[in-house]
Amino acid sequence: MQTDILVIGSGIAGLTYALKCAQEMPDKTITILTKTQSDETNTKYAQGGIAGVTDFAHDSFQKHIEDTLIAGDGLCNPAIVEIVVKEGVQRINELISWGAQFDRDPEGDYKLGKEGGHSENRILHHKDVTGKEMERALLEAIKKCSNIHLISHCFVLDIITQHHLGYLVTKSTPDIECYGVYVLNLTTNKIEKIAAAITLLATGGNGQVYRTTTNPAIATGDGVAMVYRAKGRIENIEFIQFHPTALYEAGVRGHSFLITEAVRGDGGILRNASGEAFMEKYDERKDLAPRDIVARAIDNEMKINGTEFVYLDCRHMDQQKFKEHFPNIHAKCLSIGIDVAKDMIPVSPAAHYSCGGVKTDAYARTSIKNLYAAGECASTGLHGANRLASNSLLEAMVFAHRAFEDTLQKVQANSLRKIDDVVIPVWNADGTTAPKEMILITQSLKEMKLLMSDYVGIVRNNERLKRANRRIDLLHEETEYLYERTAVSPQLCELRNMITVSYLIIKSAELRHESRGLHYNTDYLFKQPILQNTIL
Ligand code: FAD
Ligand code: SIN
Repeated sequence: MQTDILVIGSGIAGLTYALKCAQEMPDKTITILTKTQSDETNTKYAQGGIAGVTDFAHDSFQKHIEDTLIAGDGLCNPAIVEIVVKEGVQRINELISWGAQFDRDPEGDYKLGKEGGHSENRILHHKDVTGKEMERALLEAIKKCSNIHLISHCFVLDIITQHHLGYLVTKSTPDIECYGVYVLNLTTNKIEKIAAAITLLATGGNGQVYRTTTNPAIATGDGVAMVYRAKGRIENIEFIQFHPTALYEAGVRGHSFLITEAVRGDGGILRNASGEAFMEKYDERKDLAPRDIVARAIDNEMKINGTEFVYLDCRHMDQQKFKEHFPNIHAKCLSIGIDVAKDMIPVSPAAHYSCGGVKTDAYARTSIKNLYAAGECASTGLHGANRLASNSLLEAMVFAHRAFEDTLQKVQANSLRKIDDVVIPVWNADGTTAPKEMILITQSLKEMKLLMSDYVGIVRNNERLKRANRRIDLLHEETEYLYERTAVSPQLCELRNMITVSYLIIKSAELRHESRGLHYNTDYLFKQPILQNTIL
């Protein structure tokens, strides 16, 4: 199959880029691939909302820029922060013009929420299901574009580069180029090649490498692993954000339900096992300190008290308003016997967001030619060492737009690569047979999640990282052995990708000899005077 523009991922980044390309380049074919259902994305689960300066009477671009820089703990790229904050508002307005609805007060003004690290109320939201509303609006908008072809249940295995054409590619090869992808079509169970002039990677996050995460099952870091295999650059992937308040449900692992930070923005208070409101011991901003600080404080309180959770107390809040703003959380809590008016909500930190990823420039270009990356899989320089809450949906839209601008410029300059330039060989499955035992995959997956959670979590040290490195090495060796001999399946490929991503997180964490933002190493409780991005 051939397409002019290929988009991997149907979350906010992929859909925004596809929609813009389709509208401005009606003669180009655009294909979107997604590995499960089209709306099963991290985007769908976003709760709190999208940050943006819309209330200029109280807020300003400068304040949003400063809040982002403070959260990023010295490592944000200030030029990128300015781009995102200033251009973000136009992107939000476009999203509204495509049909997304944000909550308004009776006067018609946006109801603006507040989250940790924000100095002003600036979060636009749709109750506590903002991502679902955005995903709905975008999917409806793309249905109207006859030049977009969305294929669900289509698992991308690898991006195609010179390596697949038989050339030797190393990390020093100049101009590594992307020619398209190999996919496992889960409807036909066949491996196909898709040639494309331009490819955008929008594969989302990697929370599933940890035992407990707010991310759905699709978040396995596939895009990052594919780019690393293709010898592209990965940046700052040690900065994994743990959301302080995932709902604690005994026995529930994997995908945890989020209790949005907006609940603390509206007055929710964290309390330890003795009922003490502990955040004032850790930061003067108390419950609304940046996430790294709140997550570490909770981790510490859980360790001191020997508990698996702390509490989020909402009993003093206006219950009518709570139900209006957080209907989904209210219903979820009730479904497990928690009445927020009477009971405190048990919460604990969970892996939530990958601040680093595929290194990109100001136009979402990666180190691989004709390959863009946008959304959570990219490292743009916006988040630095810690992402400010609700900045990721904004970032995804801004860089999807910038990738589109760059694509348009190439089209107008007639400099798009001809798809037929190269002959792409069929996928080589020689020597592989059907999988014999799933246990070889499921047990390795358990081991990987356990070692990442126990050794490479919120608090790290050199001994834990060293152990993690040795164990991931063994899992890598065993999984590569299996991969070479077994017919590919999503389970096997996701395991392989997650092991690669785990290795990248561990290695980057080992290379950072300081504690900064989300990377906290008790052997280096200081910041190095020289700022450095970790690039692998
Ligand atoms: P996603 O939306 O995750 O989409 C990834 C896509 O890639 C999917 O379609 C998937 O199928 C596809 N894909 C992946 N691998 C493959 C493959 N191998 N083959 C084919 N397709 C593939 N951010 C905010 O700014 N505000 C919030 O309020 C907020 N709340 C959040 C709440 C939760 C519970 C979570 C999990 C995240 C939240 N975030 C929030 C973060 C934000 O939602 C994500 O960073 C953002 O939605 C990522 O969008 P994306 O387009 O990059 O990727
Ligand atoms: C939340 O609603 O707390 C999540 C916001 C985010 O991750 O940006």
